[in-house]
Amino acid sequence: MNTNTNTSAGAPRSGRNVVVVGTQWGDEGKGKLVDWLTESAQGVVRFHGGHNAGHTLVINGVKTALHLVPSGIMREGVTCYIGNGVVLSIAKLMEEVAGLEAAGVTVRERLRVSEACPLILPQQVFLDLAREAFRERAGSGKIGTTGRGIGPAYEDKVARRALRVQDLLHPERVASRLREQIELYNHTLQYLHAGDVSVPAELQAFVHRGQLQYEPILAEAKRQADWIKPMVADVSAEVNAAHRRGENLLFEGAQGALLDVDHGTYPYVTSSNCVAGNAAAGSGVGPSLLHYVLGITKAYCTRVGSGPFPTELDWETPGTPGYHMSTVGAEKGVTTGRARRCGWFDAALLKRSAQINGLTGLCITKLDVLDGLDKVQICVGYQQPNGQQLDMLPMGANEIQACEPIYEVLDGWSESTVGVTQYDKLPINARKYLERIEQVCGVPIAAVSTSPDRDHTILRHQPFQCQV
Ligand code: IMP
Repeated sequence: MNTNTNTSAGAPRSGRNVVVVGTQWGDEGKGKLVDWLTESAQGVVRFHGGHNAGHTLVINGVKTALHLVPSGIMREGVTCYIGNGVVLSIAKLMEEVAGLEAAGVTVRERLRVSEACPLILPQQVFLDLAREAFRERAGSGKIGTTGRGIGPAYEDKVARRALRVQDLLHPERVASRLREQIELYNHTLQYLHAGDVSVPAELQAFVHRGQLQYEPILAEAKRQADWIKPMVADVSAEVNAAHRRGENLLFEGAQGALLDVDHGTYPYVTSSNCVAGNAAAGSGVGPSLLHYVLGITKAYCTRVGSGPFPTELDWETPGTPGYHMSTVGAEKGVTTGRARRCGWFDAALLKRSAQINGLTGLCITKLDVLDGLDKVQICVGYQQPNGQQLDMLPMGANEIQACEPIYEVLDGWSESTVGVTQYDKLPINARKYLERIEQVCGVPIAAVSTSPDRDHTILRHQPFQCQV
């Protein structure tokens, strides 16, 4: 059922809008929830990040991994918007769209791309790789980026030298801006000894002995321009107009709040604001249009890449709870295939996340992964080296590194929760676990996901109908 956009009297009304964000370090299962919630929405908007994101959907047993295309694409009739806050690799978008269209999903007719998106071309990707290699050689510690050019693309944006989607409609602008960028990048690449960096196959046509090649990159930009033209839009104007028509909109966050460039575990973060407030700036709507913020939260914690993780467990030794999470939860990154680090649920971290996102409700995902554990633990605060206790995650990597978690131990449950769709059908200990999380974090649980399948979800309140 696609919820109607008109009142019963038939008079048009403004739509209700929901923001979906990850509350931990990403990979909380946002894609499934966005797809599921779009039953009640007519539009889905991506507002930050790029193809570093990886959202997996399972529909009728068939798995689809999306990186750039908003997860609403799997529902016919839903318009998908890529907002100005996204850094866009058109090459990757072309690949993703081709895959979806080959599987019978109509995409290009329903996809609108902001003319203000900064572009990711080969130079941003290669610089990302060369920087990480340099940091590793210098022993200064890799960020563990996804190697997709995300950081350099955001740097170009704030340095006001980015090529944006709208520039592609003006070949002369592309030629001059690109030349300027490549000169600058080549200087930096020389300093980084990029000649020693192994060049992935997809970049080989654009890099020679560690230096970027202007002509092939220009030709690539032209190829991309022809493809993207029909989808280029004033997304801000279109999204605002959709809202005025009474459409419900869903704003789809990527990554997670603790990877936010300001509020996360800096410097081990991504380069965009992942918090809910950026749904407004990253798509061109006013903050008063964000009516409900749903925080997607895994029933335990995971993280890919480097950086502090107070409740991290040994997740490599068979027989340990961490290994259980890693294997039963199939904790491998969708984008890079890297193993995710695993640990206990951190309610003190979630308090920080609730604060910086203004969460209205939580959706707890992967509860079923904890089935069969004898005991489950919740971190409720941290012991500091100076003897003080904190009940909320502090700011910054060094400060977090110094935190020793304080745990509450609860009884686990042996029954399977896979596919449960009613809250009162959950084992009593699973309910106690969820209710303790709710209590410590101070945010009500709106939904619980009990398997990757679209339909295996317990709904306690519907974000689109919740008047808060
Ligand atoms: P970048 O976003 O590629 O610059 O990577 C910076 C950090 O964010 C690294 O630790 C990545 O592993 C992490 N990261 C980026 N995107 C995601 C995601 O979608 N899920 C989880 N971690 C991510």
